[in-house]
This record gives sequence, structure tokens and C-alpha cells, in this order.
Amino acid sequence: MKLRGQVAIVTGGSRGIGAAVARRLARDGAAVALIYQSNVEAATQVAADIGRHGGRAATFQADVTDEHAVKAAVAQIAAEFGPVNVLAHIAGVFDAAGVGEITRDLFDRQFLINTWSVITTTQATLGHFAPEGGSIINVSTSLVHEPRAGTAVYSASKAALETLTLGFATELGARNIRVNAVAPAITRTDMTADIPQPHLDHERSLTPLGRLAEPDDIADVVAFVASHDARWITGRTLLTDGGRM
Ligand SMILES: NC(=O)c1ccc[n+]([C@@H]2O[C@H](COP(=O)([O-])OP(=O)(O)OC[C@H]3O[C@@H](n4cnc5c(N)ncnc54)[C@H](OP(=O)(O)O)[C@@H]3O)[C@@H](O)[C@H]2O)c1
Repeated sequence: MKLRGQVAIVTGGSRGIGAAVARRLARDGAAVALIYQSNVEAATQVAADIGRHGGRAATFQADVTDEHAVKAAVAQIAAEFGPVNVLAHIAGVFDAAGVGEITRDLFDRQFLINTWSVITTTQATLGHFAPEGGSIINVSTSLVHEPRAGTAVYSASKAALETLTLGFATELGARNIRVNAVAPAITRTDMTADIPQPHLDHERSLTPLGRLAEPDDIADVVAFVASHDARWITGRTLLTDGGRM
């Protein structure tokens, strides 16, 4: 129970990697606040599962691109749960667009949800971090190193996120707040459910460990980065891709 007595906020906690992270941090002893956008049913299910297994979790609705909503949600979380030790920013979206199809709306949506929202949640949480410090974990992608056709804007939004991770780590180190990112390759979630099977097979064949990631594969790494075991790691992006890159 490496996070016993700690408080963790997980954005995107209703589905996919975020749901796995919420469950894993709760298993490690943290009280978990799940932030979701619209999928109240899924978020409630994750919190109920955690409760059934003896953990503590609650759900909070907020669009992470809306700084006022995020600020209100985090204030409510801190009031109910106490000072925050872990902020896992997992919420994100992927919109494919080839170079000729990129629109201003698509660019804004990718950068607002994948990049700007990390600024809003970090800012909203700073005043509520425990005095002893804590851990912020962002989620990038292996595509930063090898963007495929149609992924340039998404990959760029995550590349910017990796630079934010490094910059924030530099600024927050004095408060003993570590800031890191975890960068998965294709992971089996709703986000990747529409990828055609031949492409998935190709990706699997290029992955030395011979399979694609499940959300738990990523959640376990997030839990490590959140824990005291990772106390000497900050400003880094951990490529978590089964050796794909
Ligand atoms: N899956 C992959 O292959 C993969 C690979 C590399 C990196 N990633 C990154 O990992 C993260 C999680 O991906 P996933 O595959 O687990 O995605 P997912 O299954 O599609 O789940 C997305 C989550 O983000 C939440 N969300 C989206 N927009 C939001 C907003 N504006 N405000 C608040 N919450 C919002 C959703 O909430 P609702 O349920 O309420 O909609 C949901 O919980 C993302 O940052 C993604 O870019 C994924």
C-alpha cells in the first residue's frame, strides 16, 4: 500500500487508461477523485468498483479545458479529501487529420484538451498540494518520436506536453513536486477501438514484447511514478511502449 493515506486526482478517470490508473492508485491505498467530462455512468462504475474493493473514490464532473470548472472541482476535492499528493492528468483526445485536412477547430480541440488542460489542472491543484510535495503525471505518446500519417497535430500536442512537463518540473522541484510523463504506444481503449485490425496486427508485429498494451500496463507505470520509489525522477518522459520505438 505505497500510497496509503494519500489523495490522488485522476482526470479522464471514467474510461480507458484513466480508469485503470484510478483503480490501481486506489489499490495502492490512495483516496481517488475521478474527473470526467460527460460519461457519468462509466465514472460512477469505476468509483463503485473501487468502493466495493475497500477503497475510497468519488467522481467530479469538469471539462478540463474550462479553467473555472477545474478550479471549482479541485477545490471541492480538496475540501472533501484533504491535501493532494498525486495529480494524474490522463484525459485526452485523438482526432486524425492528414496535412490537408487540418482545421483550426481540430487544432484547437487537440491542443486545448491534450495540452492546455494540463496547465489548467496543474494551476488549479498547486494551492492544494500537501506541504511535503507530491507527484504530477501527464500522459504523452510514443507518436511524439514517430508521428504516423494523420497524427501530426495530436503528436505535436503531446510533444508540447512533454516540454511543459520538463518546464513545470524545473519550477516545482523546490516544492518537492515531481512532474513526469508516461508515453504509451497503442493501448487497447475506446480511443483505439476504431483502428483497423491489419494496422493493429502490424503494430503488434513491430513490438518486441509481441502484443499491444492494455490499460493496466500503463497504469502500473503511472503508479510507480506516483510513488516514493520514483522520488529521484522528475522532468522525464518514460517511454512505455513494449519496446515498439
Ligand atoms: N489509447 C492509446 O493508444 C493511447 C496511447 C498513447 C497515449 N494515450 C493517451 O492516454 C490518455 C487516455 O487515453 P485513453 O485511450 O484511455 O482514452 P479514452 O478511453 O478515449 O478515455 C478518454 C478519457 O478522457 C476524458 N476526457 C476527454 N475529454 C475530456 C475533457 N474535455 N474534460 C474532461 N475529461 C475528458 C474522458 O471522459 P468521458 O468518459 O466523460 O468522456 C475519458 O475519461 C489520453 O491522454 C491519450 O492521448 C492513449
